[in-house]
Amino acid sequence: MSGGSAVRVSILFDNFSHDKRFKAGWGFSALLEVEGKRILFDTGPHLPEAVLKSLKVNLREIDAVVISHLHQDHYGGVEELLIHAPGISLYAPGPIPPDLKASWQLLSTLNDVREPLILGERVWLTGPIGTKVPEMALLAQTPKGLLMLVGCAHPGIVELARRSVQITGKSPDIILGGLHLMGLRPRKIRQVAEELKLIGVKRITGCHCTGKAAIKVLREVMGPVVTRGGIGKTEEFS
Ligand SMILES: [Fe+2]
Repeated sequence: MSGGSAVRVSILFDNFSHDKRFKAGWGFSALLEVEGKRILFDTGPHLPEAVLKSLKVNLREIDAVVISHLHQDHYGGVEELLIHAPGISLYAPGPIPPDLKASWQLLSTLNDVREPLILGERVWLTGPIGTKVPEMALLAQTPKGLLMLVGCAHPGIVELARRSVQITGKSPDIILGGLHLMGLRPRKIRQVAEELKLIGVKRITGCHCTGKAAIKVLREVMGPVVTRGGIGKTEEFS
């Protein structure tokens, strides 16, 4: 598993905005560009059309959509997308409830993901993890190491990182997305940061439900390799 070509992640929707043209809100969406493919990871509560337009992304040119977990702030934009890009490949953690399944499969090639899946030469899905809110992360090999994209980390970010090791044989070097640390006591956040460091995580971009206070604590433990996400932020790994 070598590094390969550059991988780019653009944050399309987040609780914070880096660009005053785009209004922040509760939810998450990111666009992953890897090996010439464009993968939309979560859609936010509504399709972030203005940001996609600013990035000159034609919706019909998106190769696949991955939904991390079945919460509206992550999948709310799916139906709008399907109207613009009918037939698109859609991956969501199973079991997908019958009403959503019936609606989505009318206009997509729907994959009810139940186990780890190879999405491309350097891209994997962990498959659903956890029972309360089953959630999956996306893993992509970049020249800067293994990237893990997460929506909300409901099963726990440490658990998701451990599963990455089981699936790919490697720990994630970079984590980008929602870490679900908002509101936790600093002592608990410090413990999470220490565990991530032990697993081998070297860089974090905290978005959505990570929380501003948690980012500060993560930085105290891991240093300036921890940054805050935000709509309009693009990270390139080359
Ligand atoms: Fe969320």
